[in-house]
Amino acid sequence: RGGFGGRYQNYQRDERFVSELKLSKSKETLARKSTLVQEPCELASYSRVEGGEVFYDERGLRLFKRHVSEDIGADLNQGYDTFVEKIDLGSEGFGDLLGCVRAKNISLDNIHFVTFRNNLNKILGAAYNRHEPWEMGVHKRNGTIYLDVHKLPERPQNDLDRRRCYWGYCFESLATEDPGRAYGEEIHHVDSNVEFCSVVKTKLGAHRVLMGAEMDCCDETEEGRRFYIELKTSRELDDRTVERFEREKLLKFWIQSFLAGVPYILVGYRDDGGRLVRTERLRTKDIAHRARLKNYWQGNVCLAFADEVLCWLYGTVKDNEDYTLQFVHPFMRLELLQAQSCPDAITNHVHLLQHPSSPPPP
Ligand code: A3P
Ligand code: MG
Ligand code: MG
Repeated sequence: RGGFGGRYQNYQRDERFVSELKLSKSKETLARKSTLVQEPCELASYSRVEGGEVFYDERGLRLFKRHVSEDIGADLNQGYDTFVEKIDLGSEGFGDLLGCVRAKNISLDNIHFVTFRNNLNKILGAAYNRHEPWEMGVHKRNGTIYLDVHKLPERPQNDLDRRRCYWGYCFESLATEDPGRAYGEEIHHVDSNVEFCSVVKTKLGAHRVLMGAEMDCCDETEEGRRFYIELKTSRELDDRTVERFEREKLLKFWIQSFLAGVPYILVGYRDDGGRLVRTERLRTKDIAHRARLKNYWQGNVCLAFADEVLCWLYGTVKDNEDYTLQFVHPFMRLELLQAQSCPDAITNHVHLLQHPSSPPPP
């Protein structure tokens, strides 16, 4: 349809539009490609403590509680009244990651992308999940692309949404050691802002990626080697819900854990009222194997897809320019739009990374 309306929409799009990536390759085509991924290597870590202060050390890392099966039957609502909800730090959270990179003298000389894992979850997930819109900030400085997390507006949460979200945090508390909590003592004052973040380096296809990833807890092997464990809650499965769990939830679990090299996922299954009914330890490798056998999804399709996205992005964005990457309706393409500005948290840290001794620009 011509007319003013159509042209007006085109005009709007032209103003910010830079490039698009059509998502036209079939799963079969992507599956034929093998994308090499380097085993993620931890370079540093940092901790956000109660009150929000950040320390560039591991004080916030929690230990997995090996006898978590004793907690079966526990009520995940305990402590809900004293729960401290997550504050959205926006780009300042990214500033903390960049602050850690600077404090630990991590060189970004040969790094193509710096990002929180969450942005990569979105990119890999889009290989299969074409229903959830997302976007992220894209800022290239000195040959390195910084991907900033953008939160899209969500529907308002009701009490049950908040409770379900709390069950996840309560399970994290139950499944980890807390020296301050006596045996049998109820959980209270769960602060969802407290976190431990690992800074890892990896390579996806041709691109070296430095990534910050929140880690739930760790355990060690008999030889004393440390490994991380991802904690998840899920509604107890039945014949009607297991397929969707394996197709959608396990795909998300796998992407998140695979990207940061987390070998195990502990799932706490709960009933509709929030009672823990059982736990199951999954090996990240086995999840992908199971999904492949059932023809639900393939990890290497996600990786081949992400490789295409990173190649297109790195080849398209220009140094000292700012963009927004959008995965929008009707979801068959990714759009790169010019953005007006770069968050201060990024500008300041990039300045300090390049000129360690001078103060940041005003
Ligand atoms: P569950 O995943 O067990 O539900 P993570 O699993 O990534 O470590 O996140 C810990 C918890 O944070 C989640 O527990 C969930 O309660 C909450 N959470 C994470 N991402 C969320 C999101 N996008 N929206 C709402 N809550 C979220
Ligand atoms: Mg977590
Ligand atoms: Mg978790």
